[in-house]
Amino acid sequence: MSAPYSPVAYRRGVLTILDQTCLPGEVRLVELTTLEQVEEAVRSLRVRGAPLIGVAAAYGVCLAMGAATNKAEAYVRGMEAVERLRRTRPTAVNLFWALDRMSLSLQHIQKEDWFVVAEADARAIHGETLRQDAALVEQGLPLLAAGARVITHCNTGPLATGGLGTALGVLIGAHGRLGGLHVYADETRPRWQGAHLTTWELAQHGVPHTLICDNMAAVLMRQGGIHSVWVGADRIAANGDTANKIGTYGLAVAARHHGVPFYVVAPTSTLDLKLDSGAGIPIEERDPREVAAPEGHVIAPAGTAAWNPAFDVTPGPLISAIVTEKGVFRGPDYRLREGTG
Ligand code: MRU
Repeated sequence: MSAPYSPVAYRRGVLTILDQTCLPGEVRLVELTTLEQVEEAVRSLRVRGAPLIGVAAAYGVCLAMGAATNKAEAYVRGMEAVERLRRTRPTAVNLFWALDRMSLSLQHIQKEDWFVVAEADARAIHGETLRQDAALVEQGLPLLAAGARVITHCNTGPLATGGLGTALGVLIGAHGRLGGLHVYADETRPRWQGAHLTTWELAQHGVPHTLICDNMAAVLMRQGGIHSVWVGADRIAANGDTANKIGTYGLAVAARHHGVPFYVVAPTSTLDLKLDSGAGIPIEERDPREVAAPEGHVIAPAGTAAWNPAFDVTPGPLISAIVTEKGVFRGPDYRLREGTG
């Protein structure tokens, strides 16, 4: 199984992205050739989703190194790119995982083949994402049944990873293999990744779906017939506490109240085992205008204060299981260790 579109594609010196801020209206491909363009694309969510920003950042390091004329300059440019890209978005640990890998790779450049080495490492990171996503589908599939009605939040499909996706990848795979799935997609205020991206991806894959406002999920669960809730993750601490798109925590609370299983799907590059708990996860705060004037449409009186945390942390005990490419870890008490990640 593969997606009929790709959110990133790299050829020497050019990173082509599918600009996710243009969906669902337009499939716009944009060619990025500089570090500054990659930084802007990550910050503005043109490329987004935890694994994908790691992949894009790795290629961004290559673009920065491309202008060098010798090994010493390539090293300096590469390391500067690593540091600058680290500052683009704070929560998704996959970004730091990929940049640590690129930084290590730069330390080992021996000869004047810096570009070949850096590109090979970036491609390896991208390739691992593809393989991990395929394994996530196999791990997650046994948790679903034919005809399941499920809820998902934010966008966790191929657009978010460059592979098959995480939670949505499992759901798309289950639709193909088990059949009869129906996905309720939370709109995901304030950036509407669910409305703009998840519905578009589900349509691309022919998966029956219904869009709901975020505040409708609880009543849908109370009406009965919801089999499970599926979300991705941006960073998971050793005790299972999981940072994901704002609104995930409330969804998990509602799922627990209604006895609905709540599953997190993420590659092990999303685990941050240095953190004992989610208390140490940095939460990105974005421009309040995304809340008060979404997509430029003013919805509150001028001067209204707005709060815009992009992520929240769901406590591990509210998560029924964490699905990784290496296995399924069941709650309520998680003790994730090296080897799982
Ligand atoms: O701000 P975004 O759109 O990058 O946030 C994305 C999410 O929160 C996804 O749910 C997450 O990255 C997990 S899945 C790939």
